Amino acid sequence: MKIEASRVAIVTGGGRGLGRAMALGLLKHGIAVAAVDRDSGPLQELAATARERGHPGALHTIVEDLTLPGAAERTGLQVLARFGRMDILVNNAGMGLSVVWKDRWVRPVRFWDIEPDQWRLFFKINTDALFLMSRMVAPHMMREGWGRIVNVTTSLGTMLRGGSAPYGPSKAAAEAMTAIMAAELEKTGVTVNVLAPGGLANTSANLQAPFDRAKLLQPEIMVPPLLWLISDAAANVTSRRFIAARWDPALPPEEAAAIASAPVAWPIAGNESILPERLVPVQ
Ligand SMILES: NC(=O)c1ccc[n+]([C@@H]2O[C@H](COP(=O)([O-])OP(=O)(O)OC[C@H]3O[C@@H](n4cnc5c(N)ncnc54)[C@H](O)[C@@H]3O)[C@@H](O)[C@H]2O)c1
Repeated sequence: MKIEASRVAIVTGGGRGLGRAMALGLLKHGIAVAAVDRDSGPLQELAATARERGHPGALHTIVEDLTLPGAAERTGLQVLARFGRMDILVNNAGMGLSVVWKDRWVRPVRFWDIEPDQWRLFFKINTDALFLMSRMVAPHMMREGWGRIVNVTTSLGTMLRGGSAPYGPSKAAAEAMTAIMAAELEKTGVTVNVLAPGGLANTSANLQAPFDRAKLLQPEIMVPPLLWLISDAAANVTSRRFIAARWDPALPPEEAAAIASAPVAWPIAGNESILPERLVPVQ
C-alpha cells in the first residue's frame, strides 16, 4: 500500500478520541497533520505524545471552535501558511448526546424536551462544520487533481433510533452530504467517503456510558481503513461508507475494504421517486 508522505491532512476534533488516534496514525506514517480542536489542552497533549513516539510526520495544532463564523477559512489560512497545501480532510469533530444530556443512558432524550438552541448546536458541529470545512478545501484539492475527504458519521441505526435526536438527524445530514459531495467531485481526483467506528467507542464522548470500557471499540481501529483510503490504491473509491470495526487488518487491504464497506447513505432512496432527469422538459 503506497502512501505519499508529502501529503498534508487536516483532522478536526484531533485533540481527543477518534480524531487523536487518526492524527497519531497519520503522523506515524509520515503524513503532516494539522489537528484542529476547540480545546488547547488535548492538542498540547497530542503534540507531546507525537514527540515521545518519535513520529516522523510534522504536526501543527490549531485551536479553533469550528462552530464560529469564519473558522473554516481561518483554519485553511493557517494550514496553507504552515504546510503550503491541503490534501486530506478528516471531518471528525462532533458532539454526542452526553455532552448536553449527562443522564441520557438512564433517561432517554425525547424530541419534545429538546430546546431549539440545543438542536441547532448539534447541527452546527456535526453537519455545518463538515460542510464549511469541505467547501473550504475542495477548490484546493480540485486544482491539484488529488484529494481525500473522510467524514466520520455514525451507524445508520443511530440516525433513526428513538432517543437519538438531535445527534442522529445531524449525522444523517452529514451522511447525505457525503453522497452529494462525492457525486459532484466525480472525476476530479477528489474522493469523499464515510468512516464510522461501527459502535460505541472508548472515547470521552462515552465517559458516562454504563458499559465496560475495555469492551467498547478502541479509537485506533479507525487508523487502518483511513490509511488505505488515503493511499493510491483507493484513488477510485468514492461515495462509500466504511465500518472500522469490520476492517480486518490481517487481510490484504483490498479484501478488508470490500468486507468493511458499502455504498454511502441510502442508495435505494433515489429510486423511489420520479426524478427531474427522467422528465422531459417543456419546450
Ligand atoms: N465515540 C463513539 O462511540 C462514536 C460513534 C460513532 C461516531 N462517532 C463520531 O466520531 C467523532 C469523534 O467522536 P469521539 O468519540 O472521538 O468524541 P470526543 O468527544 O472524544 O472527541 C471529539 C473532539 O472534537 C472536539 N470538538 C467538539 N466540538 C468542536 C468544535 N465546535 N470545534 C472544534 N473541535 C470540536 C472536542 O473538543 C474533542 O476533542 C464524532 O463526530 C462522533 O460523532 C463517535
